[in-house]
Amino acid sequence: MRRLVAETSVEPRHLVLPVFVADGIDAPQPISSMPGVVQHTIDSLRAAADEAVAAGVGGLMLFGVPKAEDKDGVGSGADDPDGILNRALRALRNDLGDATVLMADTCLDEFTDHGHCGVLDDRGRVDNDASVERYVWMAVAQAEAGAHLLGPSGMMDGQVGAIRAGLDDAGFLDTGILAYTAKYASAFYGPFREAVASTLQGDRRTYQQDTANRGEAMRELDLDLAEGADIVMVKPAMSYLDIVRDVANVVDVPVAAYQISGEYAMITAAAERGWIDRDAAIVESVTSIRRAGASIVLTYWATELATRLL
Ligand code: PBG
Repeated sequence: MRRLVAETSVEPRHLVLPVFVADGIDAPQPISSMPGVVQHTIDSLRAAADEAVAAGVGGLMLFGVPKAEDKDGVGSGADDPDGILNRALRALRNDLGDATVLMADTCLDEFTDHGHCGVLDDRGRVDNDASVERYVWMAVAQAEAGAHLLGPSGMMDGQVGAIRAGLDDAGFLDTGILAYTAKYASAFYGPFREAVASTLQGDRRTYQQDTANRGEAMRELDLDLAEGADIVMVKPAMSYLDIVRDVANVVDVPVAAYQISGEYAMITAAAERGWIDRDAAIVESVTSIRRAGASIVLTYWATELATRLL
């Protein structure tokens, strides 16, 4: 009876697997704060992608981890066709064609030596407009490498519109934009910073949203839609389900939510201690995100959960 009347379901196609691909390693590297998640080599990524596709996931979201010596102030590795992220995109697009949606993180933080999501001005502050210019170059390089959908996650004003115009000018009319619309400055990104070997000093509070603000998410939403976002995302998920619902109530584009590294780490750590039932907690957390209104859920458990749901 409960199955018959359930109002929400989770299907493999709703799930997107975020993955990390690192340069200069010859075997996958574990991420200690995310047990079960690794930094991939391109070859191990290809195998993980095959597995995800076989399980029916809706997409893959790629993050690149360049070698420390390749990072610089402007994140040159981000738009270099031979940068790790672009090489990985090319390999996966070649293997998979259109079998799944290939997404790329369009943000500089993995590629800058200071770890910020943009470039800095001469006083050391993130320069919004100069950063957006870099995103456009990065977006075109990712589209060229084979990404279907770009995820600008830097929270710079005007990033969606500039990337849309840049893609169109370069002839990538069909490359879509998954806008990180309401991205909060969150303590729960901690494990991700290990995952991408981030060098960030300080925080991202001059560009990511304040946890206290709900209306601000609606203003960000209006801007992203006006600028041409194809899908809008709320991030993190679990502490921001009210925002997911607010957004889902008013938009007619798909809504995504990102169950981030810290959410993964909390459930994993509590389950390792025997304090919660891991499998049940995973299903409950993802179902809650769907119930809040997300049609798409980015989760590090995407392949596992999709396999269980098959
Ligand atoms: C920025 C970016 C971050 C995440 C995705 N894109 C980190 C940040 O904003 O500090 C976090 C993802 C996660 O924690 O799982 N490129």
